[in-house]
Parts: sequence; structure tokens; C-alpha cells
Amino acid sequence: MNLTDTADRWWKNAVFYCADVQTFLDFDGDGQGDLRGMLHRVDYLADLGITCLWLMPFYPTAGRDDGYDITDFYGVDPKLGSAGDFVELVRTCHSRGIRIVVDFVMNHTSDGHRWWKEAVGSTESPFRDWYVWRSSTPPDTSKQVVFPDQEDAIWDKDPASGEWYLHNFYKTQPDLNLANPAVRDEVMRTMGYWLQLGVDGFRIDAVPFLFAQDQVPRKEQKFPPFDPHDYLRNLKAFADRRNGTAMFLGEVNLPYPQMAEFFGSGDADELSMQFDFIGMQATYLSMARGDTRPLAKALRERPRIDPGSQWANFLRNHDELTLDKLSKAERQEVFDAFGANKDMQLFDRGLRRRLPPMLGGDERRIRMAYSLIFSLPGTPVLFYGEEIGMGENLDVPGRLSVRTPMQWQPGDNAGFSTSGRRSLVRPVTEGAYGPDEINVARQRSDPDSLWSFVQRLISRYRQSPEIGWSSVEVLDPGDRRVLAHVCRKDEWSLVALHNFAAEPVEVTVEVPGLKRGSQLVDLLTPGTPPRLETGARGRITLMMPAYGYAWWRVVVEDDRRIDH
Ligand code: GLC
Repeated sequence: MNLTDTADRWWKNAVFYCADVQTFLDFDGDGQGDLRGMLHRVDYLADLGITCLWLMPFYPTAGRDDGYDITDFYGVDPKLGSAGDFVELVRTCHSRGIRIVVDFVMNHTSDGHRWWKEAVGSTESPFRDWYVWRSSTPPDTSKQVVFPDQEDAIWDKDPASGEWYLHNFYKTQPDLNLANPAVRDEVMRTMGYWLQLGVDGFRIDAVPFLFAQDQVPRKEQKFPPFDPHDYLRNLKAFADRRNGTAMFLGEVNLPYPQMAEFFGSGDADELSMQFDFIGMQATYLSMARGDTRPLAKALRERPRIDPGSQWANFLRNHDELTLDKLSKAERQEVFDAFGANKDMQLFDRGLRRRLPPMLGGDERRIRMAYSLIFSLPGTPVLFYGEEIGMGENLDVPGRLSVRTPMQWQPGDNAGFSTSGRRSLVRPVTEGAYGPDEINVARQRSDPDSLWSFVQRLISRYRQSPEIGWSSVEVLDPGDRRVLAHVCRKDEWSLVALHNFAAEPVEVTVEVPGLKRGSQLVDLLTPGTPPRLETGARGRITLMMPAYGYAWWRVVVEDDRRIDH
């Protein structure tokens, strides 16, 4: 493959790292993380090797949905810093070769936003139609609510006018009306603003919910219907005009065929990337069963995508670990395996735990899971703290259990803040996953730590763009406990094997396209890399240890990459 291709479509083999400014590092000692704290950890991120920092919302907020309820799209939450601090962060990241992507939440505003206040203040306000209204009584929408613990409908009555407004999320988050051209202009203006400040792309929140107009009875719709795909295409074209390599990463938790539509019909002319929610859920089901068939099936069903599009592979994000696309029985299997207590579950569809405690702290299994996620075609996305194996704090309510302060050091406040414990934005995790056991300081100096392992995965992934640039080819290793796949881009290919079982398994796979005598080199074993020679029809036989993993690069004569 041509290495220079990787310079433009940078998201095709990037390593994303999602962080919440609020919980990363508190620079000024007030108990809240801040942008200056983040800036002081850019070299840490560069050392880990990530190439793109995704910041969760850092805008002024009413604080009802951890920043996803924004009161000013052009601002920075004063508790976190200033616009100046933001620009310094962008500059510093760029100087270290790290791109910045910001969360872009244009499905709704907070009810504390000036537009909403004007909209409810008078039905004559020009802002009234920035939101979605109906005067007829809505039908039962209790099945459509996203947060069933707090909401029982997606419409609420505005007492002043007696009309109903749409809120797909909390009632304090009224949906914006994208059918209104004035709102569409504002979305572009907002995007243009952040691009001008130097960001490299956007994580677009709640994409399927953006097109709220559908929820309004036809005769009550005030604007002509518009095509969501035309709209996204225009928005992407706009971002490309402002910054030729801008990237859109969409949150689209839908079945594959519907996701495929959001990539667009040209070459990534709508969303550049989408999270693979389906593959993620299948991974957990496969881990729960010690049987790779659900994952293999999901990978085979993944729609083919254009070269500019990309899947974002992840094991954990900042929300509940949703299992909503599994059947009820399958979901129950995952609950039984990884979070049997009711307190570990959320919304009847997900888990509010982090990966290591779910896997009982079994380091072999944890490493297998990360090796897998980095070896699948796509771009890996880490959630802060995954690199050291942080756990959750179930005493923290709801989804926030996994958004506890980053654990830098042992001892007080995990090195996150010098403030008193009681003024911390959120309590630090305690016990076996607390900072005395799990922290950056110890793991960075230990070549055998999880941190060092993740660093190695990142480096090998970055040196193997055939992973990001390929489509998945699942092989048949003759044993359902082992997933074998090959990532192939032109003459470069990498064979990966992952054993989901607690016992060693010997497997034999035939790698299509290889003949007898091809050489493979092990990319993950530290030290001198062992080599392997294929038998007839590209056959290899390997003994996979319990929860073992292996990445084998096929040696190509004129490949000048280093392999150790
Ligand atoms: C997305 C975010 C979630 C947020 C919601 C509403 O799903 O990931 O954290 O609560 O949108 O903005």
C-alpha cells in the first residue's frame, strides 16, 4: 500500500483517546479538571502514542447531563478555562502531532440556553421555531425515551403556551429544529467557529435524533421536509471547504444497513467515521460465551465502506455499555457474566462498569480484548483510563460511575487534584481499582504493565496501516473459541488470532493468498521477533495460550517497515 495515502485521510489509522476535561487533571486546585490540566498532560498522551484527542463537551452548561446540555455553543465553561486556554491546548496538541476532535451536540440545547428562554418567553419570538413544537396531544412515546429512569415521554408541555416541545433526551434538553434554515445556518456557523480555532473534526452526538421534524404531525410542520443525507452532505462539504481534512465521527447506534447510509453515497461525503456499536456488543457476547461466532457474524455483516470511511472500534465509552442490539436472552447472558447485580446495570439495556472489573481483573483476558480491538479493521478509540485498567465507582450514580478522576498516582485524590477530597468534581474510585493499585506513575515505569502493553499495541497499530485500511476477512480456524482474521491492503497483510477461552487451543488456519514458504513475523512479542513459515496453501498451526493473542505480519520483500 502507499504510505502517503495515510497522510490525508488521517482518521483511517489514527488512535483516538476520549477524555473529559473535568476529570483529567485539575491545574488550579479547585477540585475540577481544567484545560490547563489537559495541556499539562499532552506529552503524556504523545508518549502513549495516541494521535487524536476527542474532548467531551467543555462548553458552558446547565450541568444536568454532564456537559451535554449546553448553554452557549461558542463558549468554554468558565470552570474549565477560557477560549484562550482552548487555543493553547489545540496548538500544543498539534505541535506534538496530536489532532483534536470536539464533541458537537446540535440535537438539542439546554433549557438554560438563551434561545430556549426566548422561545418559551413568547410564541412570537424568532427563536420559537428553533425548537420542535406541536399543539395536538402527542401519542404515548414511553417506548422511545432514551433515559427511562427519568423520563416517560419525549414530549413535554410548555405551561405558558400549552404547546408541547420535543426532547429526545432529558426534558431539560429541548430538541433543536434542523428543518428551520436559521438553525441549519447556526449549526454551520458553530462548526466554522471551532474549525477556525483549529479543531480537526467533530464527534457528532446523537445523529439519528437530529432529524426531529419527523416526530411532528405533517399538518403541524412549519418547514418543508428536508433530506437528512443532503443535509449531512452539505455540512461535510462546508467543513471540507474550511479545513480540507476535517473528520466527522458520528454516534449512530442503529442496525448496520441504516448506519451504512450515514457514510453517504460518495466517498465518505457524510460521516467519515461511525462507532461500531454492533461489533462492540457482539464482542461482549462472544467474551461472555467464550465463543467467537457472534463476533465473527457481526464482522461478516459489516457493510462494505468506501476508502474514505472508517469504523471506530471501541470496548468502552463514557455512556452505559449499551447492549441494546442484542436479544433479551443474549443481553441477559452478558449481564450474568459481567454485571449480575442490578446496581451494575442501567436502563435495562446496559452496564455501568469498566472492562477490567467485568473480566474479574484477569490481565490475560484484558490484554486479549485490547489486542482484538486494535487488530480489527477500523480505528481504535480508547476512553481515558483504559490504558491503565481503571475500574468504575458504583457509588457514583448512573452513567457517571465510569467518569471518575484519572488516576495519575497513588495516594490522595489519585494525583488528579490538590484540593480537599470533598471539593472533587467526582469521587475517586476506591478499593482494588483505586489509585494505590492502579495508577499511571507505577505502570509507566514497568515494561510489563498494561500501560506498556497498550503503548506497544498503539505503536504496532500505527506501523500497520493495513489494519485501518482493510476490510475484514474472517478466517476459519476450525475452533469456535478462536477468532482468526486477516487485514489485507494491496500487498500488505496481517493475520491476527484471539483465543476467547480460558484454556489453550491449538489452531490451524489457511491464509488465503499465501503459498507454502511465506514468512510471517510476530509483531507483539517483545524482543527478537520469532518468524513462522507457512505450509501448503498458506497454512499455519499455532498453539494459542488461554486468552492468547497474536499479530503476524506477512513479510513482503520490498517492505521497508521495521518489524520489531
Ligand atoms: C449522547 C451522549 C450522551 C448524552 C446524549 C445527549 O448519547 O453520548 O452522553 O447524554 O447524547 O446529549
